[in-house]
Amino acid sequence: MRAAYGLCAALLALSLSSCDGPKRIKGIATGLIGCADEISTGVRPVARDRDRRFLGKVQSSTARCRGGETAVQRRDLSWVDWRNYYATGDHTTRSFWETRNVRGINGALVDLEYERAELIKFNLFDNSGTYRGYIEGRGETEGPAIKTWPEMRLPPSDPHYQDVGGAGNQLCKGTLIRGRTLTGICNDIRNPLMGSTGTLFARNVQFETTFPEAGFTAITHDRHAGRLSLMTPDPQVVSRKLFTRPQSDSAACADGQGKPGYAKDANCDYKKAPFFNVLAAFWIQFMTHDWFSHLEEGHNRAEYMKVGCTSQKMNGAETPLTPGDVARLGCRPGDEMDRAFVADSSAPTRFSSNGVEYLSRALKTFRNTNTAWWDASQIYGYDARSRVRVKRDPADSARLLMVSIPGDSTSGDRQGYLPMLLPTDPMNPDWAGQEATAFPDNWTIGMSFYHNVFAREHNQFVDHFRRHAAQRPDEDSGLRDPADPKRVIRYRDVSANDLFEAARLVVAAEIAKIHTIEWTTQLLYDEPLFRGMNSNWNGLIGEDNGVSRALEAVVRKLRESERAKSANTWYSILASGPGIFGLGSTKKGWSLSNPDDVNGGANHFGSPFNFPEEFVTVYRLHPLVPDLIEYREYQNPNAIRYKIPVVETFRGKATSFMHERGLANWALSMGRQRLGALALQNHPRFLQNLKMGRLKSPTQQIDVAALDLIRDREHGVPRFNEFRRQYGLRQLTSFDDFINRDASPEDRAEQAKLVATMREVYGQHRCDSTKVITQAQLDANNQPINDCLGHPNGSVVDNIEDLDTVVGWLAESTRPHGFAISETQFVVFILNASRRLYSDRFFTSSFRPEFYTQLGVDWVNNNGPDTLYEKQPVNGHKHQPVSPLKRVLLRTIPELKPELDQVVDAFDPWARDRGEYYSLAWKPRKGAESDEAFEVKR
Ligand code: HEM
Repeated sequence: MRAAYGLCAALLALSLSSCDGPKRIKGIATGLIGCADEISTGVRPVARDRDRRFLGKVQSSTARCRGGETAVQRRDLSWVDWRNYYATGDHTTRSFWETRNVRGINGALVDLEYERAELIKFNLFDNSGTYRGYIEGRGETEGPAIKTWPEMRLPPSDPHYQDVGGAGNQLCKGTLIRGRTLTGICNDIRNPLMGSTGTLFARNVQFETTFPEAGFTAITHDRHAGRLSLMTPDPQVVSRKLFTRPQSDSAACADGQGKPGYAKDANCDYKKAPFFNVLAAFWIQFMTHDWFSHLEEGHNRAEYMKVGCTSQKMNGAETPLTPGDVARLGCRPGDEMDRAFVADSSAPTRFSSNGVEYLSRALKTFRNTNTAWWDASQIYGYDARSRVRVKRDPADSARLLMVSIPGDSTSGDRQGYLPMLLPTDPMNPDWAGQEATAFPDNWTIGMSFYHNVFAREHNQFVDHFRRHAAQRPDEDSGLRDPADPKRVIRYRDVSANDLFEAARLVVAAEIAKIHTIEWTTQLLYDEPLFRGMNSNWNGLIGEDNGVSRALEAVVRKLRESERAKSANTWYSILASGPGIFGLGSTKKGWSLSNPDDVNGGANHFGSPFNFPEEFVTVYRLHPLVPDLIEYREYQNPNAIRYKIPVVETFRGKATSFMHERGLANWALSMGRQRLGALALQNHPRFLQNLKMGRLKSPTQQIDVAALDLIRDREHGVPRFNEFRRQYGLRQLTSFDDFINRDASPEDRAEQAKLVATMREVYGQHRCDSTKVITQAQLDANNQPINDCLGHPNGSVVDNIEDLDTVVGWLAESTRPHGFAISETQFVVFILNASRRLYSDRFFTSSFRPEFYTQLGVDWVNNNGPDTLYEKQPVNGHKHQPVSPLKRVLLRTIPELKPELDQVVDAFDPWARDRGEYYSLAWKPRKGAESDEAFEVKR
């Protein structure tokens, strides 16, 4: 039965992914016949137990069917198999036989669906008190199918406590459900507190495995054998040895300060990703400012700590650094930093269930000081203080206030720029001189860029709405008041405040769409991910039609089930058909008066939604940022005029630069420049030496790269190998496993050097096979994994278990084609990026005109006021709508039209020739042959 279930799931995914035309269906049928061997041996079931997970590894017959002999040969590696299937890379991976290509791509989608189903099943650990119920269930309902939690009630201290029902049954209604609330309460109307500002970060790993240096269980103790502490291995030493960008000409870089007058002969070497631009780097920082923060108003706890630069491993032992070592490394023993806030560090309670002992939460917990929802809270606010910084236009309070800058005169400039923070605004003094917005921390030219663009976009929607309302004042706007749901609200009746909130919903949904189908498809630039991400949004079935509606009805029913298998596993697999976005919104007879319709599309899989600490870890993407921006002007786009240090655009200086030079020039500069690859020895120099005025330390400087390691350790993130095992990926057995067998000899030589440095920094030990080091997985012979990781007892093995997770995923050079991130980061995204959509009713059952207005729904669906299609096929796909960020930029910076007309994905370097099929080549497109960025090979 279980095998049949797995088989059905796989076939379903295969058939769903072929629903866009009879040709594909024929192709897939032939493919399935060709793979009779695979089918006759049976498809594996979704794992019943944590230690029998999929691991992204398939049988050899499956590998052969989907990728031929190459795929079979590479099965012995730790990395996932689908990257070796037909057509999952560039044109060289495509077979002459189309059926093989179909099998390769669909096979990859099946593998990804297995991973997602198992991640939902094994990786949800809530810290806020619901975990016992998750394990034990409630009444007839299995734990992972529980949908409401007492812990997600508003507390009496919340100003809306009485509005939602006080001590009785809590249900959000009226104004509280009309739009996104300031603090994020009432997104789920039956779990008002969920995802709101100040709730606890969750975990994706078993609680016992958190805080490895504490050696909480015998297993974690034996994994690291007392080798770790908050400052061991020394984080600044790790940073200087493994994160520093080597420079061919130190003077030309000057630690990221460039040259006087921003001279263009300045140069800071960095490893570049040819298919991803600097706009993409700042986009993801802009996103994280929406999703989470551990800090309060840009600072941590009042208590300070020293942050290393004191010791290194020598002959296996921690040895104090000499002044000579310090000078050679360039680290700073005088640096100090404020410690991370902790919500609860008391000992967690334990419980046992079916003879197994559990912890009820992690050893320490931390608060997300932002709303966890994808609600554009970085723009609109997440608490009372941040809301004061958001300025509305006194002439029309539906609009955000934008001001004109003397001398700025392009068509885009006339839409204005954000006003400055006022001296009366609540703020960290470091933010003085910056634009006014809800989340002002770590402000640079990139943040200034996106905040200005989306403030303009907000106003574009409002203006469009106003024009429409002026023409058809008596038409039904689609909006409804939940307190009086039957009353039609005509365009003329929509208040400025209603329109402001509708515009916020639209902007947040556009941002989510850009991220899902434009940013991520360029971050993971291959065909399976293009289809996978588009299926999250539009569904594998494609346009809204009868089949997708029928499937949506099935999915809705599954959600109501009290059995985890139906409510979660089947639900998530079948949801790929209609797509997650809008799930539950097309139900026949949907009614605003029915809470089950309003809320009925969201699914939390038995665990209240918040981001896990492990998610924050894999977003520590500081290497994406170059040290110098290649500044251009849009009248002469092929010429680089200046090299402007990013650090010169830090905080208030970003605002001055934005006003001096204008959005169009910054868009062009960041759009054409490649970002930094996520790799070792590729952190920006300036971030290792960042000056922070607020710090009460002798240096007032901090190495942000080292701080990334310290924060992860403070938050108790498991180290790299256990992290992978916990997420259902295969462990590594030595640092040598990081070397990419298929890389060029030069690249392999560089990787071998990095491996030697890892060994020097983290060390080795003589292993003891009697020590079991994990409960997450078994070895290939179904035996417990021990300290020797498959090497003979007593042999000297790498301390790979100690590797900081960030170091590990940066070291991964074996990746699927076009992956700017590693597979370890990716697996964290598979789970949490999907959940971010699944859990949010405004992206599922409340994506309705009653909340967004009809114009708002259309704007999100069409990427603007009308639909536009690319003239040429995109990687073989015909009828591609013009991508959503490109549309936003065309509206908000119209002077860039001649440049943007050549762009397909706003995150692909704008002057790059994209080739035929997922090419990663760095060569100029027509018209950009003289672009200086293509001249030199560096
Ligand atoms: C160039 C500009 C940037 C600067 C100056 C900067 C600075 C910082 C600093 C100082 C911290 C440490 C906060 C603390 O724990 O005390 C931090 C954390 C962080 N940064 Fe950046 N960063 C930049 C770009 C980026 C980018 C491009 C990303 C990409 C996603 C990113 C992601 C993060 C994340 C995820 C954290 C952890 C936040 C938290 O724990 O709440 N940063 N950054």
